[in-house]
Amino acid sequence: MSESQQDDMQIPLQSPRADARLRPLKGLILAGGKGSRLRPLTATGAKQLVPVANKPVLFYALEQLVEAGIEEIGIITGDSGGQVREAIGDGSQFGAQITYIPQDAPLGLAHAVLTGREFLGESPFCMYLGDNFLRRGIVGHAERFRHSGAAGQILLKKVDDTSALGVAVLDANGKVQQLVEKPKIPISPYAVVGVYFFGPEIHDVVPGLVPSARGELEITDAIQGLIDAGNEVDASLIDDVWIDTGKKDDMLEANRVVLSGITRRIDGEVDSASVLVGEVIIEEGAEICGSSVRGPAIIGKGARLDGAFVGPFTAIGDRVHLESCEIEHSIVLADSSVKNITRRISDSLIGREVVIQRTDHRPHVMRLMIGDHGQLDIS
Ligand code: TTP
Repeated sequence: MSESQQDDMQIPLQSPRADARLRPLKGLILAGGKGSRLRPLTATGAKQLVPVANKPVLFYALEQLVEAGIEEIGIITGDSGGQVREAIGDGSQFGAQITYIPQDAPLGLAHAVLTGREFLGESPFCMYLGDNFLRRGIVGHAERFRHSGAAGQILLKKVDDTSALGVAVLDANGKVQQLVEKPKIPISPYAVVGVYFFGPEIHDVVPGLVPSARGELEITDAIQGLIDAGNEVDASLIDDVWIDTGKKDDMLEANRVVLSGITRRIDGEVDSASVLVGEVIIEEGAEICGSSVRGPAIIGKGARLDGAFVGPFTAIGDRVHLESCEIEHSIVLADSSVKNITRRISDSLIGREVVIQRTDHRPHVMRLMIGDHGQLDIS
Protein backbone atom coordinates (compact mmCIF):
# COMPACT_ATOMS: atom_id res chain seq x y z
CA MET A 1 0.00 0.00 0.00
CA SER A 2 1.43 3.40 -0.90
CA GLU A 3 1.84 6.12 1.72
CA SER A 4 -0.94 8.22 0.28
CA GLN A 5 -3.33 5.24 0.32
CA GLN A 6 -2.53 4.72 3.99
CA ASP A 7 -3.28 8.36 4.66
CA ASP A 8 -6.61 8.01 2.86
CA MET A 9 -7.59 5.12 5.10
CA GLN A 10 -6.92 7.11 8.26
CA ILE A 11 -9.34 9.85 7.20
CA PRO A 12 -12.86 8.87 8.23
CA LEU A 13 -15.22 8.59 5.26
CA GLN A 14 -17.41 11.59 5.85
CA SER A 15 -19.42 13.78 3.60
CA PRO A 16 -17.52 17.06 3.09
CA ARG A 17 -20.58 18.66 4.73
CA ALA A 18 -20.70 16.53 7.87
CA ASP A 19 -19.09 19.19 10.00
CA ALA A 20 -20.35 22.15 8.02
CA ARG A 21 -22.95 23.11 10.61
CA LEU A 22 -20.26 23.36 13.27
CA ARG A 23 -18.49 26.09 11.33
CA PRO A 24 -19.19 29.71 12.28
CA LEU A 25 -21.85 31.47 10.22
CA LYS A 26 -20.52 33.79 7.55
CA GLY A 27 -22.42 36.82 6.25
CA LEU A 28 -23.20 37.76 2.65
CA ILE A 29 -24.54 41.27 2.16
CA LEU A 30 -25.94 42.10 -1.26
CA ALA A 31 -25.02 45.65 -2.23
CA GLY A 32 -25.06 45.40 -6.03
CA GLY A 33 -28.25 45.54 -8.09
CA LYS A 34 -29.71 48.16 -10.39
CA GLY A 35 -31.58 50.35 -7.92
CA SER A 36 -33.93 51.45 -10.69
CA ARG A 37 -36.72 52.35 -8.27
CA LEU A 38 -34.57 54.94 -6.51
CA ARG A 39 -33.38 56.81 -9.58
CA PRO A 40 -31.99 59.39 -10.00
CA LEU A 41 -30.17 58.93 -6.67
CA THR A 42 -28.88 55.55 -7.78
CA ALA A 43 -27.57 56.95 -11.07
CA THR A 44 -24.65 58.36 -9.10
CA GLY A 45 -24.67 56.42 -5.86
CA ALA A 46 -25.35 53.02 -4.34
CA LYS A 47 -28.89 52.74 -3.01
CA GLN A 48 -27.56 50.88 0.00
CA LEU A 49 -25.66 54.03 0.98
CA VAL A 50 -28.76 56.24 1.07
CA PRO A 51 -28.91 57.32 4.72
CA VAL A 52 -31.57 56.44 7.26
CA ALA A 53 -31.27 58.87 10.19
CA ASN A 54 -27.94 59.97 8.65
CA LYS A 55 -26.49 56.43 8.52
CA PRO A 56 -26.33 54.39 5.31
CA VAL A 57 -29.06 51.76 5.30
CA LEU A 58 -26.40 49.10 4.62
CA PHE A 59 -24.69 49.87 7.96
CA TYR A 60 -27.74 48.61 9.87
CA ALA A 61 -27.42 45.20 8.17
CA LEU A 62 -23.70 45.09 8.88
CA GLU A 63 -24.15 46.01 12.54
CA GLN A 64 -26.93 43.46 12.97
CA LEU A 65 -24.80 40.66 11.50
CA VAL A 66 -21.95 41.51 13.88
CA GLU A 67 -24.41 41.71 16.78
CA ALA A 68 -25.50 38.16 15.89
CA GLY A 69 -21.88 36.97 16.13
CA ILE A 70 -21.27 36.96 12.35
CA GLU A 71 -17.99 38.72 11.69
CA GLU A 72 -16.63 37.24 8.48
CA ILE A 73 -18.71 39.05 5.91
CA GLY A 74 -18.65 39.15 2.11
CA ILE A 75 -20.21 42.12 0.35
CA ILE A 76 -21.48 41.64 -3.18
CA THR A 77 -20.95 44.85 -5.14
CA GLY A 78 -21.98 46.19 -8.52
CA ASP A 79 -21.17 49.37 -10.46
CA SER A 80 -21.09 51.45 -7.28
CA GLY A 81 -18.65 49.07 -5.55
CA GLY A 82 -16.02 51.80 -5.12
CA GLN A 83 -18.36 53.89 -2.97
CA VAL A 84 -19.35 50.90 -0.87
CA ARG A 85 -15.68 50.07 -0.23
CA GLU A 86 -14.94 53.65 0.66
CA ALA A 87 -17.80 53.77 3.16
CA ILE A 88 -17.03 50.47 4.90
CA GLY A 89 -13.28 49.94 4.44
CA ASP A 90 -11.91 46.74 5.97
CA GLY A 91 -14.86 46.56 8.36
CA SER A 92 -12.79 47.02 11.52
CA GLN A 93 -14.92 49.99 12.60
CA PHE A 94 -17.84 47.52 12.74
CA GLY A 95 -15.87 44.68 14.31
CA ALA A 96 -16.09 42.71 11.04
CA GLN A 97 -13.65 41.36 8.44
CA ILE A 98 -14.95 42.34 5.03
CA THR A 99 -14.30 40.68 1.68
CA TYR A 100 -15.57 42.59 -1.36
CA ILE A 101 -16.97 40.38 -4.09
CA PRO A 102 -17.73 42.16 -7.39
CA GLN A 103 -20.67 40.75 -9.34
CA ASP A 104 -20.29 41.08 -13.13
CA ALA A 105 -23.91 42.15 -13.59
CA PRO A 106 -27.04 42.21 -11.41
CA LEU A 107 -28.21 38.80 -12.56
CA GLY A 108 -30.28 37.94 -9.49
CA LEU A 109 -30.07 37.13 -5.80
CA ALA A 110 -29.16 33.49 -6.47
CA HIS A 111 -26.50 34.69 -8.93
CA ALA A 112 -25.04 36.63 -6.01
CA VAL A 113 -24.78 33.35 -4.06
CA LEU A 114 -23.00 31.83 -7.07
CA THR A 115 -20.68 34.83 -7.18
CA GLY A 116 -19.91 34.43 -3.49
CA ARG A 117 -19.27 30.67 -3.75
CA GLU A 118 -15.52 30.79 -3.15
CA PHE A 119 -15.83 33.14 -0.19
CA LEU A 120 -18.63 31.07 1.35
CA GLY A 121 -16.88 27.71 1.00
CA GLU A 122 -18.74 25.07 3.01
CA SER A 123 -19.79 27.46 5.78
CA PRO A 124 -23.40 28.11 6.68
CA PHE A 125 -24.23 31.74 6.05
CA CYS A 126 -26.72 34.55 6.48
CA MET A 127 -27.56 36.44 3.31
CA TYR A 128 -28.82 39.95 4.06
CA LEU A 129 -30.14 42.18 1.26
CA GLY A 130 -28.30 45.46 1.69
CA ASP A 131 -31.39 47.58 1.14
CA ASN A 132 -33.56 45.74 3.66
CA PHE A 133 -34.14 47.20 7.08
CA LEU A 134 -35.13 45.38 10.26
CA ARG A 135 -35.51 47.41 13.43
CA ARG A 136 -34.56 44.80 16.01
CA GLY A 137 -31.94 42.76 14.23
CA ILE A 138 -31.38 39.03 13.73
CA VAL A 139 -29.82 37.66 16.93
CA GLY A 140 -32.70 35.28 17.73
CA HIS A 141 -33.05 34.13 14.12
CA ALA A 142 -29.33 33.34 13.86
CA GLU A 143 -29.48 31.34 17.09
CA ARG A 144 -32.47 29.40 15.84
CA PHE A 145 -30.66 28.51 12.61
CA ARG A 146 -27.48 27.50 14.44
CA HIS A 147 -29.47 24.93 16.40
CA SER A 148 -32.02 23.79 13.83
CA GLY A 149 -30.00 21.64 11.43
CA ALA A 150 -32.23 22.83 8.56
CA ALA A 151 -30.64 23.45 5.15
CA GLY A 152 -32.29 26.85 5.02
CA GLN A 153 -34.24 29.27 7.14
CA ILE A 154 -36.21 32.22 5.87
CA LEU A 155 -37.70 35.10 7.80
CA LEU A 156 -41.39 35.73 7.24
CA LYS A 157 -43.58 38.68 8.08
CA LYS A 158 -47.36 38.48 8.18
CA VAL A 159 -48.74 41.26 5.96
CA ASP A 160 -52.16 42.30 4.67
CA ASP A 161 -51.30 42.74 1.00
CA THR A 162 -48.91 40.22 -0.53
CA SER A 163 -49.68 40.91 -4.19
CA ALA A 164 -46.32 42.61 -4.84
CA LEU A 165 -44.21 40.33 -2.63
CA GLY A 166 -42.79 36.81 -2.48
CA VAL A 167 -44.76 34.62 -0.08
CA ALA A 168 -44.19 31.27 1.63
CA VAL A 169 -46.75 28.53 2.11
CA LEU A 170 -46.08 26.57 5.31
CA ASP A 171 -46.92 22.96 6.15
CA ALA A 172 -48.57 21.78 9.38
CA ASN A 173 -45.17 21.75 11.14
CA GLY A 174 -44.41 25.33 10.17
CA LYS A 175 -41.80 24.31 7.58
CA VAL A 176 -41.69 25.96 4.18
CA GLN A 177 -43.55 23.97 1.58
CA GLN A 178 -43.71 26.33 -1.37
CA LEU A 179 -42.65 29.82 -2.40
CA VAL A 180 -44.74 31.97 -4.71
CA GLU A 181 -43.68 35.30 -6.26
CA LYS A 182 -46.33 38.04 -6.38
CA PRO A 183 -49.34 35.71 -5.91
CA LYS A 184 -52.42 36.70 -7.93
CA ILE A 185 -54.67 34.98 -5.42
CA PRO A 186 -53.76 35.41 -1.74
CA ILE A 187 -52.27 31.98 -1.09
CA SER A 188 -50.43 32.87 2.13
CA PRO A 189 -50.15 35.94 4.42
CA TYR A 190 -46.40 35.38 4.99
CA ALA A 191 -44.11 37.66 3.01
CA VAL A 192 -40.47 36.62 2.54
CA VAL A 193 -38.12 39.10 4.24
CA GLY A 194 -34.72 39.88 2.66
CA VAL A 195 -32.68 37.96 5.27
CA TYR A 196 -31.99 34.27 4.61
CA PHE A 197 -29.93 31.56 6.30
CA PHE A 198 -28.44 28.73 4.26
CA GLY A 199 -26.34 25.65 4.81
CA PRO A 200 -23.87 24.61 2.08
CA GLU A 201 -26.64 22.49 0.45
CA ILE A 202 -27.72 25.64 -1.38
CA HIS A 203 -24.60 25.31 -3.56
CA ASP A 204 -25.95 22.01 -4.94
CA VAL A 205 -29.04 23.80 -6.21
CA VAL A 206 -27.89 27.19 -7.47
CA PRO A 207 -25.69 26.03 -10.39
CA GLY A 208 -28.69 24.20 -11.89
CA LEU A 209 -31.03 27.21 -11.88
CA VAL A 210 -32.20 28.77 -15.11
CA PRO A 211 -32.93 32.50 -15.47
CA SER A 212 -36.51 33.56 -14.79
CA ALA A 213 -38.70 35.57 -17.17
CA ARG A 214 -36.95 38.75 -15.95
CA GLY A 215 -33.58 37.20 -16.75
CA GLU A 216 -32.43 36.66 -13.15
CA LEU A 217 -31.41 33.63 -11.11
CA GLU A 218 -34.10 33.82 -8.44
CA ILE A 219 -33.46 33.01 -4.79
CA THR A 220 -37.06 31.77 -4.52
CA ASP A 221 -36.24 29.13 -7.18
CA ALA A 222 -33.11 28.16 -5.22
CA ILE A 223 -35.09 27.74 -2.00
CA GLN A 224 -37.80 25.78 -3.83
CA GLY A 225 -35.01 23.60 -5.27
CA LEU A 226 -33.74 22.92 -1.73
CA ILE A 227 -37.22 21.83 -0.64
CA ASP A 228 -37.83 19.74 -3.75
CA ALA A 229 -34.52 17.93 -3.14
CA GLY A 230 -35.88 16.83 0.26
CA ASN A 231 -34.14 19.41 2.46
CA GLU A 232 -35.86 21.10 5.35
CA VAL A 233 -36.37 24.85 5.08
CA ASP A 234 -37.41 26.41 8.35
CA ALA A 235 -39.51 29.55 8.76
CA SER A 236 -38.83 32.15 11.44
CA LEU A 237 -41.71 34.57 11.86
CA ILE A 238 -40.77 38.12 12.66
CA ASP A 239 -42.65 40.50 14.89
CA ASP A 240 -40.55 43.47 13.92
CA VAL A 241 -40.57 46.41 11.57
CA TRP A 242 -39.32 45.25 8.15
CA ILE A 243 -38.83 47.71 5.32
CA ASP A 244 -37.54 46.95 1.84
CA THR A 245 -36.13 50.42 1.13
CA GLY A 246 -36.34 50.20 -2.65
CA LYS A 247 -38.43 53.36 -3.11
CA LYS A 248 -38.54 56.91 -1.73
CA ASP A 249 -41.46 56.40 0.64
CA ASP A 250 -39.84 53.26 2.07
CA MET A 251 -36.68 55.24 2.84
CA LEU A 252 -38.79 57.90 4.57
CA GLU A 253 -40.58 55.21 6.58
CA ALA A 254 -37.28 53.63 7.71
CA ASN A 255 -36.08 57.13 8.61
CA ARG A 256 -39.26 57.68 10.64
CA VAL A 257 -38.83 54.37 12.48
CA VAL A 258 -35.20 55.01 13.45
CA LEU A 259 -35.78 58.66 14.41
CA SER A 260 -38.72 57.56 16.60
CA GLY A 261 -36.18 55.84 18.84
CA ILE A 262 -33.50 58.55 19.20
CA THR A 263 -32.65 60.46 22.35
CA ARG A 264 -31.66 64.08 22.58
CA ARG A 265 -27.98 64.89 22.10
CA ILE A 266 -26.66 68.37 21.37
CA ASP A 267 -23.01 68.41 20.28
CA GLY A 268 -23.21 71.40 17.92
CA GLU A 269 -23.78 75.11 18.52
CA VAL A 270 -27.31 76.41 19.16
CA ASP A 271 -27.81 80.17 19.53
CA SER A 272 -30.21 81.79 22.01
CA ALA A 273 -32.70 82.68 19.26
CA SER A 274 -33.19 79.02 18.37
CA VAL A 275 -35.64 76.53 19.84
CA LEU A 276 -35.17 72.77 20.00
CA VAL A 277 -38.23 70.71 20.94
CA GLY A 278 -38.24 67.02 21.82
CA GLU A 279 -35.76 64.36 20.73
CA VAL A 280 -33.26 66.22 18.61
CA ILE A 281 -29.67 65.30 17.69
CA ILE A 282 -27.40 68.17 16.68
CA GLU A 283 -24.09 66.70 15.57
CA GLU A 284 -20.69 68.22 16.22
CA GLY A 285 -19.84 71.26 14.15
CA ALA A 286 -23.48 71.98 13.24
CA GLU A 287 -24.70 75.56 13.80
CA ILE A 288 -28.32 76.40 14.54
CA CYS A 289 -29.04 80.13 14.22
CA GLY A 290 -32.47 81.70 14.71
CA SER A 291 -34.08 78.39 13.79
CA SER A 292 -36.38 75.85 15.32
CA VAL A 293 -36.04 72.09 15.23
CA ARG A 294 -38.94 69.93 16.37
CA GLY A 295 -37.92 66.34 16.94
CA PRO A 296 -37.51 63.62 16.35
CA ALA A 297 -34.93 65.00 13.97
CA ILE A 298 -31.20 64.86 13.34
CA ILE A 299 -28.94 67.60 12.01
CA GLY A 300 -25.65 66.33 10.57
CA LYS A 301 -22.04 67.39 11.20
CA GLY A 302 -21.14 70.82 9.90
CA ALA A 303 -24.73 71.60 8.81
CA ARG A 304 -26.02 75.15 9.19
CA LEU A 305 -29.56 76.38 9.80
CA ASP A 306 -30.36 80.09 9.40
CA GLY A 307 -33.96 81.10 10.07
CA ALA A 308 -35.09 77.59 9.21
CA PHE A 309 -37.69 75.21 10.61
CA VAL A 310 -36.96 71.50 10.69
CA GLY A 311 -40.00 69.42 11.62
CA PRO A 312 -40.47 65.87 12.91
CA PHE A 313 -38.97 62.80 11.19
CA THR A 314 -36.37 64.76 9.27
CA ALA A 315 -32.72 63.87 8.77
CA ILE A 316 -30.51 66.72 7.58
CA GLY A 317 -27.18 65.45 6.24
CA ASP A 318 -23.65 66.66 6.91
CA ARG A 319 -22.76 70.16 5.71
CA VAL A 320 -26.30 70.88 4.50
CA HIS A 321 -27.28 74.56 4.57
CA LEU A 322 -30.90 75.51 5.24
CA GLU A 323 -31.83 79.18 5.13
CA SER A 324 -35.29 80.75 5.41
CA CYS A 325 -37.11 77.53 4.66
CA GLU A 326 -39.23 74.87 6.35
CA ILE A 327 -38.85 71.13 5.97
CA GLU A 328 -40.41 68.09 7.65
CA HIS A 329 -40.67 64.31 7.21
CA SER A 330 -37.77 64.35 4.76
CA ILE A 331 -34.21 63.22 4.17
CA VAL A 332 -31.61 65.65 2.83
CA LEU A 333 -28.27 64.14 1.81
CA ALA A 334 -24.90 65.74 2.43
CA ASP A 335 -23.74 69.08 0.99
CA SER A 336 -27.13 70.24 -0.30
CA SER A 337 -28.72 73.62 0.29
CA VAL A 338 -32.28 74.92 0.47
CA LYS A 339 -32.71 78.71 0.61
CA ASN A 340 -35.58 81.19 0.67
CA ILE A 341 -38.35 78.75 -0.13
CA THR A 342 -41.71 79.95 1.23
CA ARG A 343 -43.65 76.70 0.83
CA ARG A 344 -42.91 73.98 3.43
CA ILE A 345 -41.06 70.98 1.98
CA SER A 346 -42.49 67.65 3.10
CA ASP A 347 -42.18 63.91 2.29
CA SER A 348 -39.05 64.55 0.24
CA LEU A 349 -35.79 62.76 -0.46
CA ILE A 350 -33.18 65.25 -1.64
CA GLY A 351 -29.85 63.98 -2.99
CA ARG A 352 -26.26 65.13 -2.57
CA GLU A 353 -25.08 68.63 -3.53
CA VAL A 354 -28.59 69.63 -4.60
CA VAL A 355 -29.36 73.37 -4.68
CA ILE A 356 -32.97 74.50 -4.17
CA GLN A 357 -33.34 78.26 -3.97
CA ARG A 358 -35.54 81.19 -4.79
CA THR A 359 -33.94 83.93 -6.86
CA ASP A 360 -35.28 87.35 -7.70
CA HIS A 361 -34.09 87.29 -11.28
CA ARG A 362 -36.66 88.27 -13.89
CA PRO A 363 -38.60 86.83 -15.48
CA HIS A 364 -40.21 85.04 -12.48
CA VAL A 365 -40.07 81.54 -13.85
CA MET A 366 -38.90 78.17 -12.51
CA ARG A 367 -35.48 77.20 -13.82
CA LEU A 368 -34.84 73.50 -13.31
CA MET A 369 -31.85 71.24 -13.66
CA ILE A 370 -33.13 67.82 -12.60
CA GLY A 371 -31.57 64.41 -13.20
CA ASP A 372 -33.19 61.64 -15.24
CA HIS A 373 -36.11 60.03 -13.39
CA GLY A 374 -36.28 62.97 -10.95
CA GLN A 375 -39.69 63.94 -9.61
CA LEU A 376 -40.99 67.37 -8.64
CA ASP A 377 -44.48 67.71 -7.14
CA ILE A 378 -45.55 71.36 -7.19
CA SER A 379 -48.85 72.29 -5.57
P1 TTP B 1 -33.57 44.32 -5.57
O1 TTP B 1 -34.16 45.46 -4.83
O2 TTP B 1 -34.43 43.14 -5.75
O3 TTP B 1 -33.07 44.77 -7.00
P2 TTP B 1 -32.37 46.10 -7.50
O4 TTP B 1 -31.30 46.58 -6.59
O5 TTP B 1 -31.86 45.79 -8.86
O6 TTP B 1 -33.45 47.27 -7.43
P3 TTP B 1 -34.59 47.76 -8.43
O7 TTP B 1 -35.66 46.70 -8.37
O8 TTP B 1 -35.04 49.08 -7.83
O9 TTP B 1 -33.97 47.93 -9.78
O10 TTP B 1 -32.25 43.83 -4.84
C1 TTP B 1 -32.21 43.55 -3.47
C2 TTP B 1 -30.81 43.79 -2.95
O11 TTP B 1 -29.89 42.88 -3.57
C3 TTP B 1 -30.27 45.16 -3.24
O12 TTP B 1 -29.46 45.56 -2.13
C4 TTP B 1 -29.43 44.98 -4.46
C5 TTP B 1 -28.90 43.57 -4.30
N1 TTP B 1 -28.65 42.83 -5.54
C6 TTP B 1 -27.38 42.36 -5.85
O13 TTP B 1 -26.43 42.61 -5.11
N2 TTP B 1 -27.21 41.64 -6.98
C7 TTP B 1 -28.23 41.34 -7.84
O14 TTP B 1 -28.00 40.66 -8.85
C8 TTP B 1 -29.55 41.84 -7.51
C9 TTP B 1 -30.72 41.55 -8.40
C10 TTP B 1 -29.71 42.57 -6.36
